[in-house]
Amino acid sequence: MRTIRITGTGSALPGRIVTNKELEQMVETSDEWIRERTGIGERHVSVGETVVTLASEAARKALEQAGKRAEEIDLILVATCSPEQYLPCCACQVQAAVGAVNALAFDVNAACSGFLFALNTADAYLRTGLAENALVIGSEVLSKLVDWTDRGSCILFGDGVGAVVVKSTQDAPWYAHLGARGERDILWSGGMGSEERYLHMNGQEVFKFALETVPQAARTLLAKAGMEKEQVDWYVLHQANHRIVESVARRLKVPLSKCYENIERYGNTSAGTIPIALDEMAEQGLLKAGQWIMCLGFGSGMTWGGALFQWQDKEEK
Ligand code: COA
Repeated sequence: MRTIRITGTGSALPGRIVTNKELEQMVETSDEWIRERTGIGERHVSVGETVVTLASEAARKALEQAGKRAEEIDLILVATCSPEQYLPCCACQVQAAVGAVNALAFDVNAACSGFLFALNTADAYLRTGLAENALVIGSEVLSKLVDWTDRGSCILFGDGVGAVVVKSTQDAPWYAHLGARGERDILWSGGMGSEERYLHMNGQEVFKFALETVPQAARTLLAKAGMEKEQVDWYVLHQANHRIVESVARRLKVPLSKCYENIERYGNTSAGTIPIALDEMAEQGLLKAGQWIMCLGFGSGMTWGGALFQWQDKEEK
């Protein structure tokens, strides 16, 4: 059976870093409160970088890693909920920037679950032979939708992008699980240009939703694969709050040491968190051929999902 394999990763972050200390000057908060309640220490914030420029940078790195030329890519998916420009879609703009002239390209908006929705869309395209090589990117500049006077939300988010190159392959195990529950009022924004552009969030409801859906998604993936939780080498969770990662690990009874975390440095980059984590893990040599990786996410929509797969074999590139 045809499925997909990740063969390259890349990421890109804006240069400007905003620390918790800096936020103390903007809203009534403290470094101590933010670290204790979220695990976040700082975040990157765009000063001119856009969803498209950052996505293009991450895409180039992922292509180089995968040893693929842009012309070989026949599908580009950009997961984003913070595009600065509505038309053309970000994926088409990335296509133009990297020169992927043979690709079809479109955006996916499933908020913070967006990268996993896009990755599993790529799987569906590659599995059915509609494409062979895809670029899947999670790219967000949420700082433009954040109300920097709202201490309940502005402390959480950051800007950043991660990208992967995937190729169609034979018999590589790939298990997916996605879900959506239409609920308008928990986490929403009218989008760039709207009078209601700012992110509105009921933090406690999001927290509850994550603890309800993420462990269940993990169990579903394990059941589909016929695996035990101990067989998974890495759990790569959406980086929204360290306490959510901790609680999910506790519920699943998996050691926190198997859950990769980088929220301290980036905050919540929405669709960017999981591919940024994968890129860092690959860069640090944490991901070894044959290891089992489970990615899990949740976000506005409300949406949630996951993917369970084995890390690439270098020879397979
Ligand atoms: N600094 C200091 N105090 C703050 C604060 C801040 N940045 N934000 C809220 N508070 C205060 C509240 O006003 C409240 O004060 P009160 O007790 O006097 O009323 C107190 O801290 C507790 O607020 P609460 O909302 O109960 O905190 P919490 O422990 O639920 O943490 C979040 C708030 C937002 C950090 C947490 O709910 C969360 O992370 N939720 C998930 C959000 C998320 O992941 N969103 C993205 C999804 S993709």
